[in-house]
Amino acid sequence: MCGIIGIVGAKPVQDRLIDSLKRLEYRGYDSAGVAGVVDGHVERRRAKGKIRALEDVLAAEPLPASVGIGHTRWATHGAPSQINAHPQRAGRVTLVHNGIIENYAELREALKEKGRTFESETDTEVIAQLLDYELQTRPPIEALKATLDQLTGAYAIAVLIDGEDELIMGARRGSPLVVGYGDGEMFLGSDALAVGPFTNQIAYLDEGDYVAIDRKAAHVFDEAGRAVQRPVRTVAAAAALVEKGNYRHFMEKEIHDQPDACQHTLSAYINPTTGHVHAPGGVDLARFDRVQIVACGTASYAGQIGRYLFEKLAGLPCDVEVASEFRYRQPAVTPATLAIAVSQSGETADTLAALRWCKAQGLTTAAVVNVHESTMAREADVLFPTHAGPEIGVASTKAFTSQVAALTALALAAAAARGRLKPGEEAHDTRLLLEAPRLIAEAIQLEDQIRTLAPELAKARDVLYLGRGPMYPLALEGALKLKEISYIHAEGYAAGELKHGPIALIDETTPVIVIAPSDPLFDKTISNMSEVAARGGRVILITDEEGARNAPAGARVIVGPTCDPMLAPMVYAPPIQLLAYYVAVQKGADVDQPRNLAKSVTVE
Ligand code: F6R
Repeated sequence: MCGIIGIVGAKPVQDRLIDSLKRLEYRGYDSAGVAGVVDGHVERRRAKGKIRALEDVLAAEPLPASVGIGHTRWATHGAPSQINAHPQRAGRVTLVHNGIIENYAELREALKEKGRTFESETDTEVIAQLLDYELQTRPPIEALKATLDQLTGAYAIAVLIDGEDELIMGARRGSPLVVGYGDGEMFLGSDALAVGPFTNQIAYLDEGDYVAIDRKAAHVFDEAGRAVQRPVRTVAAAAALVEKGNYRHFMEKEIHDQPDACQHTLSAYINPTTGHVHAPGGVDLARFDRVQIVACGTASYAGQIGRYLFEKLAGLPCDVEVASEFRYRQPAVTPATLAIAVSQSGETADTLAALRWCKAQGLTTAAVVNVHESTMAREADVLFPTHAGPEIGVASTKAFTSQVAALTALALAAAAARGRLKPGEEAHDTRLLLEAPRLIAEAIQLEDQIRTLAPELAKARDVLYLGRGPMYPLALEGALKLKEISYIHAEGYAAGELKHGPIALIDETTPVIVIAPSDPLFDKTISNMSEVAARGGRVILITDEEGARNAPAGARVIVGPTCDPMLAPMVYAPPIQLLAYYVAVQKGADVDQPRNLAKSVTVE
């Protein structure tokens, strides 16, 4: 999703704006721009495409400013182009915006009737025009408030005004915005990473807040226009430089980060000394008679794995639904339901709306979230953290396995709280669970073998992924990973569903990837593989040693670690991630920033 940086600096800002925008690249974008105060008026530079295109523009025409704003845009209204890139400008106003203004069409018409002409197709320009209009009759901060009062939708903005040389104004509703406190300098950013190179002293604005920063201070106002203070904290993530190290891509690095990510996550739930597993935040899991999980994309597949575990281990009924459907469906919920939003970013618009809906129904809400300062983390009754660290690759990897780790621990905690475990079983199961990081590391060692599959798979037009039980959502996740980074069409199916339609797709050109470590359902999956092989399909079986011994003739077999079925969704995730990764590398695709995708989808 789009990224924002604003600096009221004591020294030149051009390179610093670019530095910050580069840190925001991971969010996905298709154009970028900066603006700054030069000799008492605001100038801007913009470019379609990558930040290096903007750097070329700046090399030709530098921006000698010490106050400036910058933006990476992920197109919503209007195609990616220089003219639609931010900053957008109208009269004295130059601004950048994340989010979507829902009533922009009406506002645009009303402004046109007042004689205003528009340059771009963006909803953002409407805010600039409106603010410029309000500035005719009021001082900047009042004009900003009057403008915000007319907007419907989600936004975070940063604004420069001609004639106000040491001022940046900002506002947030629906999209996050942080204020950074420096030494004689102040910053605005769409997240802590944006201002990370400059300060780790950060205040998160609340919903509806707006702010004016100068070199020395931030003047924050709440939705009602009252001056307020937002606590300034020291944020570790802001200081930490997120680097690729020796890896070629962030995605590769993040696949390798998974043992640590899972270990850190599990340590928030399990006391390794006592073997006790608990739900953070003092939540009594025995109080609930149902769990409702809401999430999007990869996080929803983690949720589906969670459902198998809550029901099997804890006997706790669990529903999982993609948030974009759940939020508009008026679902029937019962009061003793624990609603769990699962999200890496904690900002995904649909998941956040579903979480808020559950809260409004009076349900206890929890957020399994990786960004602990995110909106979901702050709005849910309780945070069930994942500790994957910053995930930069757009395709989720370590966040997914950490979500599965957290949900597995929570399912065990629910089993313990509901009296479903025999004496000694809790300690036994937590000990097993703590083996996951090591087993994940073993699975990652399959990397060289998996790489050899890539040249052939890269030629495929379609790929099917099959699994049963918790391996079925993993098959869905495998297909999603391949689609999003290699652009090869892929589908995940429950292995038993194959004969109800998808088997018609099988021929010698369609690779079928079966994820099936040996478990009580393994024999059934073998039958499904034989059905594929009989129709000329090329089977790649990802299994363990025992599964390999029973593999059907002709299948290409990748032998992963032997593990308890409870751990298999985490342990068998890296092989399917690596497969997608090496196919994408083989195809020369932009692995970390796949086309059309954004890291955090804060619009509907
Ligand atoms: C796929 C992927 C997306 C996200 C989805 C939800 O690799 O990353 O499908 O999982 O957009 O994002 P979060 O988890 O931030 O809510």
